[in-house]
Amino acid sequence: MGDVWAKWLLTRRDSDGASIRARHASSVEAFRDGVLDRADLRADDVLLDVGCGTGLVGFGALDRLGPGGHVIFSDISADLLDECRRTAAHDERCSFVRAAADDLATVPDASVDVVTTRSVLIYCARKQAAFVEFHRVLRPGGRLSIFEPINRFAVLHRPGDLFGLGRTPVDDLLAKVARQMGAAETLVDFDERDLLTWAAAAGFEAVELDYRAQLDVPAEPFTDWQAVKQTAPNPLAPTYGEAIAAALTRDERERLESYMATTGARCRRTMATAYLRAQKADAPQEG
Ligand SMILES: C[S@@+](CC[C@H](N)C(=O)[O-])C[C@H]1O[C@@H](n2cnc3c(N)ncnc32)[C@H](O)[C@@H]1O
Repeated sequence: MGDVWAKWLLTRRDSDGASIRARHASSVEAFRDGVLDRADLRADDVLLDVGCGTGLVGFGALDRLGPGGHVIFSDISADLLDECRRTAAHDERCSFVRAAADDLATVPDASVDVVTTRSVLIYCARKQAAFVEFHRVLRPGGRLSIFEPINRFAVLHRPGDLFGLGRTPVDDLLAKVARQMGAAETLVDFDERDLLTWAAAAGFEAVELDYRAQLDVPAEPFTDWQAVKQTAPNPLAPTYGEAIAAALTRDERERLESYMATTGARCRRTMATAYLRAQKADAPQEG
């Protein structure tokens, strides 16, 4: 069924819940468009999408490039690169590279016009090194456009509030489940100011950050608790159902189930996101 990255993108992010799938699709499509709008694409650009996943950004870029444009899909997951190869169906404007964001050694220096990446640095332990690699592979005048969730924001403001329910009679149970879910260090070890600092330190100029934070904003209630339990919030986490099974006794599970089955309407969204765009300096004029 593939590695953890492929499993999550292809099944565990959405489970079989049509409403969950539709909600995720509309938000990731908006993030994709935000990345591509900021990339200032030209018809013949060579674009490297780092951590391409199933090709959300890369195929979105292909739709905007002309016949002379090219997209290099790169990822650490061989399974996801295979998935992108299948989707590309021999489109000659596509190539595929297995590489980590912080070690793009197979991509030559100054060989691409645009680097994009969406929700990838969050899984990368050496984020500063990734920015150095983005700068190295870009041609002079090349553009960087990235999107990252800033998970530290929710951890700071609403720790353990797994579903945005605020104070509930099952807080004790949700806290146990949240502890069981855990949070990989790379998900929370940075914020939007670090992105700016790393871009500048890697040599980028014209660095611009668009940051959006939402605290307790009323959100669509989740109507399908059974489907939600089959989802995981990220590729490194268990599903909510797995965490509930591991963390709670049978009585506790029953108490949580009866509360969750009736409570969807009070969801609040607490999250922060950042788009960053930047440019590599133009080559100095001769003479
Ligand atoms: C949340 S998914 C995002 C996929 C895609 N960018 C999108 O927007 O749908 C994270 C992706 O990053 C890849 N990934 C994880 N760690 C990585 C690393 N250190 N370097 C490059 N890619 C990585 C995973 O294989 C996965 O495809």
